[in-house]
Amino acid sequence: MKFYALIILTIIITTACDSNDQKEKKWMIGPFVKVDSVNPILTPSKDGEFFCPVTNKIIFWEAKDVFNPAALVRKEKVVLFYRAEDFKGKDNGTSRIGMAESTDGYHFIRNKKPILFPDNDSLNVYEWTGGIEDPRVVEDEKGNYYMTYSSFDGNVARLCLAKSCDLKNWEKLGPVFKNKINFSFDKIERDEKGMLTKKYVNNQRRKAYWNKSGAIVCNVKEGKNIAAKINSKYWMYWGDSNIFLASSDNLINWEILCNSKGDMIPVMKTRIGFFDSYLVEPGPPAIIVEQGILLIYNSKNDEKTGDPLIGKNAYCAGQALFSMDDPSNLIDRCDTSFLKPERPYEIEGQINQVCFVEGLVNFNEKWLIYYGTADSKIAVAECIIKK
Ligand SMILES: *[C@@H]1O[C@H](CO)[C@@H](O)[C@H](O)[C@H]1NC(C)=O
Ligand SMILES: *[C@@H]1O[C@H](CO)[C@@H](O)[C@H](O)[C@H]1NC(C)=O
Ligand SMILES: *[C@@H]1O[C@H](CO)[C@@H](O)[C@H](O)[C@H]1NC(C)=O
Ligand SMILES: *[C@@H]1O[C@H](CO)[C@@H](O)[C@H](O)[C@H]1NC(C)=O
Repeated sequence: MKFYALIILTIIITTACDSNDQKEKKWMIGPFVKVDSVNPILTPSKDGEFFCPVTNKIIFWEAKDVFNPAALVRKEKVVLFYRAEDFKGKDNGTSRIGMAESTDGYHFIRNKKPILFPDNDSLNVYEWTGGIEDPRVVEDEKGNYYMTYSSFDGNVARLCLAKSCDLKNWEKLGPVFKNKINFSFDKIERDEKGMLTKKYVNNQRRKAYWNKSGAIVCNVKEGKNIAAKINSKYWMYWGDSNIFLASSDNLINWEILCNSKGDMIPVMKTRIGFFDSYLVEPGPPAIIVEQGILLIYNSKNDEKTGDPLIGKNAYCAGQALFSMDDPSNLIDRCDTSFLKPERPYEIEGQINQVCFVEGLVNFNEKWLIYYGTADSKIAVAECIIKK
């Protein structure tokens, strides 16, 4: 009898953890449940033929890996913009951005060709051979779409911007940050406890300028993520060490938040002993909720000083709340991850142990998050909104 009771108890506990039945903080969205019946929703495809204008060759543009999708709702469909890599090689192949659409949010039909890719244009120097990575998309009041993405030349990543009015034709607008800022990632920073908060000190690649992951603050209106002005500016969280902030009048020209000495100000840092000990990096566009600005973020667990209960170097997602009066003011953040690698395709892939969120939509009375798994496939998790 006792034996059976123990089994039942174990099952109940595991299920509860798995579906994150408890939200850690009231302001968080969730709990999110991974939709196992459809996951992974997109996998690499050997069918996608594409004539690459740079090499003048036909390639299979999404043959190796598909991951890290942006998501939005348009005309009662969920639209994904995802990163696809062609084949193993220098820089692990070239990344291009593909598009897929769904009427239910679970089953997607892909565009045959990538919609944004390295071309023989003026931005090729920033994109070849690494390509175009990790998109995030917002809309303005007039129905124009803005995509932030990383261009990668094999040496440094640059946060870039593209604009579209129909989602199919995108105009590349070039690097977001045109002003030269002193690079502060290779400085040793210490937190209140005197612990190191920067781990890129000896990493040569990071000693070059490097910037990525722009999440613009939005209002969610009828499922659309519409860029919102706060204190008469647009705001964008960005960075992939600590998180920094930038503001804009027009969504195109961005100014980085700096102190009087000209150093960039981190608005959210890594934490020793937690799942977000190695780096923090914005996820999908941040959204305005009742209590403030809610940012879903991605993070990496430090192998030595991180949370020992989570895999070493695992990428998990968290949520943070910033003030509506001052978007640089971090009000609260969760202490445990709400989305972490558990399934085989989240644990093993191009990079093991990764759940990386870049898409969040409000669709059919649900929150849906779309995330890259192990830098190889794409999955969805959902939360039914209580009325
Ligand atoms: C693009 O540039 C490369 C290198 O200069 C050249 O080989 C190729 O033919 C060009 N492609 C097109 C479509 O013009
Ligand atoms: C290529 O992928 C490996 C993991 O498979 C990773 O360690 C490495 O950083 C990647 N290289 C580039 C240039 O992205
Ligand atoms: C972003 O990266 C580019 C390329 O290295 C660099 O020129 C620029 O100064 C960087 N900007 C910031 C704010 O780091
Ligand atoms: C960058 O650093 C140099 C040397 O420390 C300093 O002279 C310069 O004023 C700084 N530039 C900015 C924009 O803060």
